[in-house]
Amino acid sequence: MSKPTTPTAPAPTPRRARADAANAPAAPEPALAVRAVRRADLDQVIAIDATVTGLEKRSYWASVYRRYGSGTRSEQQFLVAVAGGRVVGFVIGEVRDWEFGSPPCGWVFAIDVDPQARLGGIGTQLLQAISAQFRRAGVRKLRTMMAIDNTLILSFFRSQGMMAGPLISLEMDLEA
Ligand SMILES: CC(C)(COP(=O)(O)OP(=O)(O)OC[C@H]1O[C@@H](n2cnc3c(N)ncnc32)[C@H](O)[C@@H]1OP(=O)(O)O)[C@@H](O)C(=O)NCCC(=O)NCCS
Repeated sequence: MSKPTTPTAPAPTPRRARADAANAPAAPEPALAVRAVRRADLDQVIAIDATVTGLEKRSYWASVYRRYGSGTRSEQQFLVAVAGGRVVGFVIGEVRDWEFGSPPCGWVFAIDVDPQARLGGIGTQLLQAISAQFRRAGVRKLRTMMAIDNTLILSFFRSQGMMAGPLISLEMDLEA
């Protein structure tokens, strides 16, 4: 006796399949997406930075966008986190080759999350996204620098597994 088979619906024709797809509810927007910055995001990036630093540096941001915003090279990254159609954070970084005597590594220059959107994992997702791009570019080390009294950003980077590295920063005033 042959084994009973489970009845199955006939395979939809391609036209039927297209109609079904058209009637299907749209896939829900992901709650948070991290993607390469676009020019249209710049005003929101500037606003987040101004909230954090108190300065609205339009020409600075235009120049950062020109240098890092192409979205085509994994060595140079300017990523934004978008939730509900709004930019809620950004991260910027670059692979630097043999600078400060070190083998190539990924540097994070800036990371900021809108104060209204913090403590929800957005900073973590931004750092993971830029790390993935740097890995794609072939580097296996991530570095950053911060103001020594910025305990918030220090707590954040420590929570991500970053530790004190082998470099120190030095400075002096240049006389006129
Ligand atoms: C640092 C910053 C990017 C973190 O963004 P975020 O989205 O709030 O971070 P996350 O939610 O992913 O937090 C990850 C971890 O960071 C640590 N952390 C974040 N905010 C913290 C806070 N206020 N106090 C202590 N630890 C904190 C925690 O360990 C946290 O993990 P937990 O929530 O499980 O405790 C955000 O606070 C920010 O933009 N701060 C200003 C940054 C700044 O000064 N930029 C200028 C120099 S680049």
